[in-house]
Amino acid sequence: KKSKILSFLKWTWRLSLISAVGGAGWVCYGIYEMRNPQDQPPPDPSKKTLVILGTGWGSVSLLKKLDTENYNVIVISPRNYFLFTPLLPSCTVGTIEHRSIMEPIRNFLRHKKAAVKYYEAEATKIDYANKVIYVNDDSEIKGDVSTTEVPFDMLVVGVGAENATFGISGVKEHALFLKEVRDAQKIRNRIMDCIETATFKDQSESEVQRLLHMVVVGGGPTGVEFAGELQDFFNNDLQKWIPDIKDNFHVTLVEALPNVLPMFSKQLIEYTEKTFKEETITIRTKTMVKNVTDKYIEAESIGPDGKKVLQKIPYGLLVWATGNALRPIVKDLMSQIPAQKDSRRGLAVNEYLVVKGTENVWAVGDCAVANYAPTAQVAAQEGAFLAKMFNQMAKTHDIEAELADLSVRQETAPDKETRTKAFDEIKELQKRLRRVKSVNPFEYTHQGSLAYIGSEKAVADITWFEGNIASGGTLTYIFWRSAYLSMCFSSRNRILVCMDWVKSKVFGRDCSRV
Ligand code: FAD
Ligand code: NAI
Repeated sequence: KKSKILSFLKWTWRLSLISAVGGAGWVCYGIYEMRNPQDQPPPDPSKKTLVILGTGWGSVSLLKKLDTENYNVIVISPRNYFLFTPLLPSCTVGTIEHRSIMEPIRNFLRHKKAAVKYYEAEATKIDYANKVIYVNDDSEIKGDVSTTEVPFDMLVVGVGAENATFGISGVKEHALFLKEVRDAQKIRNRIMDCIETATFKDQSESEVQRLLHMVVVGGGPTGVEFAGELQDFFNNDLQKWIPDIKDNFHVTLVEALPNVLPMFSKQLIEYTEKTFKEETITIRTKTMVKNVTDKYIEAESIGPDGKKVLQKIPYGLLVWATGNALRPIVKDLMSQIPAQKDSRRGLAVNEYLVVKGTENVWAVGDCAVANYAPTAQVAAQEGAFLAKMFNQMAKTHDIEAELADLSVRQETAPDKETRTKAFDEIKELQKRLRRVKSVNPFEYTHQGSLAYIGSEKAVADITWFEGNIASGGTLTYIFWRSAYLSMCFSSRNRILVCMDWVKSKVFGRDCSRV
């Protein structure tokens, strides 16, 4: 009996060893492949030129699934990386370093089947009638040529949106936004600048209070997540390293509507507001910012007597997160297409994401109006849908060419037998064509909404079969972390994000200013 157990253990040990060696070999091969991409066939100019604008959620999701052998693909974007925006608020306080959530577009494109041309440039105008895009190199280093034209047969517009300011005076000059990596870097520096200036020798009491008042305008998920992260930074790190600021550091969230997070269920809104209260973040709802100066905002609210009051709120840091507005290039394209006349929020698209009034222009993500919220989830699903459709369209094109060829062969066939054979093949191909052509319209599947609210708590409205599960708290926070970790672009991003989480937990967040 003893020898049987020993032999069983020996075999188990051998099998585990073989699996471990096999697993390690597989990982090493994956790393080798990643570091040494294979040669790609060059773009084929005889194929249709498909131009994709942007390297955000919509465009990159399209590129991920697109068979690039079928088209002459050109990508144009001023940003040569993909940014995982859901974790951007964590970069403003150093919980995560920004490079951990960036994926270079060059690495990604280098692994596609056929080569894709990438131009780091901003598209300044789309000339729809002449099928040409004007591009501009807006980087610091410029060559002899810094503006040029790119012709297209097919165009996908995935340029996202810019920050809405509603024309409120002083916002652009004095507020910081939270959309891009450089915004997060600016906020991180500004927080520390305010703190160091507040602790400057002989600073007056009122100035200390102003400098340490961190105001966030907009109670949507961007504003709420940032306010939560900022309060965490103070609670976990700042007040320990700089005890002088303990009594004056304060975060205020200003929202025009009666509550924050309007897209979440009522119980989660209440939970968020309660959590903020415990964290000592002030929420000022029904308060509309009307004017911004370099030192205070002017906000309108309803006073106890029911009358409107305009109040000056001094601030050190002002983060403006009031949603999306159209980019000029999108506005300009809309003005060229009569069918877009009545669209206000972006490019109106049909159920196949074709820009209404055009045949060869598609739009994805925040710049498209398809009756869904402007979220990463929607943009990613739209991009994946377009990839599937374009792959099918290429197959259709090939089958149609084959059919035309067979029809000629059938007509010119010397004998009956060859004619019958060609006829059968045509019937078979027509069947395949019908199958390939039958692409269902785009349908968005909502998987739920998630938001971090600070002090290791998150809220989630998850779609479960036909129903909805609403949950908030620390377990939801663990779910939030695992969900976003699994959604990161690459394994490299996942590893870096995990390392950042461990680093900030063990050593605290870095409070140096660069
Ligand atoms: P983007 O991802 O913004 O990409 C636009 C691309 O176009 C960029 O590469 C840009 O450089 C490029 N571009 C801009 N102008 C031009 C031009 N003129 N020519 C060429 N290229 C151009 N959504 C969620 O679902 N869940 C979340 O948790 C979540 N968190 C978020 C957190 C923050 C802080 C922010 C700001 C947004 C968050 N969102 C989230 C929303 C989500 O990021 C957007 O809905 C999503 O990025 C939209 O994708 P997009 O492809 O349309 O645009
Ligand atoms: P938003 O549009 O969701 O919210 C902006 C808020 O600002 C609104 O509630 C509005 O009432 C308020 N506001 C506007 N003008 C104001 C003023 N003058 N004074 C005071 N308040 C004012 O914008 P946000 O948060 O930037 O999000 C943009 C998009 O990105 C949304 O679709 C959102 O769902 C998505 N997103 C999703 C996240 C998530 O799922 N966790 C995180 C961040 C963004």
